[in-house]
Amino acid sequence: MSQPTIVVTGAAGNLGKAVVQKFATEAYKVYALVHSISQIDAWKNLSVTQLPTDLLNEQHCETSIQAIIAETQNIDVAVLTAGGFVMGTIAETDLNKMQQQLALNFETAYNIARPVFLQMLKQKKGHLFLTGSKAGLNTQHAKGVTAYGLSKSLLFRLAEIMQAEANGTQVQIHVIVPNIIDTPQNRAAMPNADFSKWTLPETIADKIYAIVHSNSMEPMVMMV
Ligand SMILES: NC(=O)c1ccc[n+]([C@@H]2O[C@H](COP(=O)([O-])OP(=O)(O)OC[C@H]3O[C@@H](n4cnc5c(N)ncnc54)[C@H](OP(=O)(O)O)[C@@H]3O)[C@@H](O)[C@H]2O)c1
Repeated sequence: MSQPTIVVTGAAGNLGKAVVQKFATEAYKVYALVHSISQIDAWKNLSVTQLPTDLLNEQHCETSIQAIIAETQNIDVAVLTAGGFVMGTIAETDLNKMQQQLALNFETAYNIARPVFLQMLKQKKGHLFLTGSKAGLNTQHAKGVTAYGLSKSLLFRLAEIMQAEANGTQVQIHVIVPNIIDTPQNRAAMPNADFSKWTLPETIADKIYAIVHSNSMEPMVMMV
């Protein structure tokens, strides 16, 4: 059997790095989409190819995904982690701030999800993971994080539309819904919090791997 292939966006970020590490350790051929190439020692002896890609540039994303397909003929898994957070009530959220969050959380995902999804439809098989948030899943959590909540909510709708288009195939669309990830940035921002209640990026990566390797055909919203 040929080596399975995974594409990871935000690969040099907290969650992305953990996903790359997990799948590379499990003998996947990993294409790590990064803003720019950097030396990551943990990947040194693993099958990890860094592809510098501006996720806001549709053509650039298309070129990166087609280059991967040309090499591997197949994309088994894609985990799209790029995204980010900003606070703001409606009063604090002008259109510019809204557009920045839509770009960071929706466009960065859509630009990769689209060509990956089209390839998975051709294969009739594959797992595509988007990274949502509690504020995107349930607007009760979006008060005070207007642009973040709205931009993340689109990913859930996108997952539903893609799952409907993939009806009759083994393409599965999942949305990861992290609570608070235990990251250096969150520790610095919330120094008095109980870090033991937070989720390690490695735990999320393990759960993603477990879903891919389970026999379940249920697409899922994955609270972690
Ligand atoms: N951290 C949490 O507690 C938490 C909670 C709920 C949901 N989430 C979601 O989980 C995901 C991962 O979080 P994280 O903490 O791992 O985030 P992170 O460390 O900030 O990683 C995000 C990565 O995306 C990259 N990126 C952003 N825009 C890009 C672009 N235009 N082109 C290429 N790369 C781009 C960033 O690169 P640069 O650094 O070079 O810009 C960074 O490597 C995000 O979608 C976040 O919204 C996080």
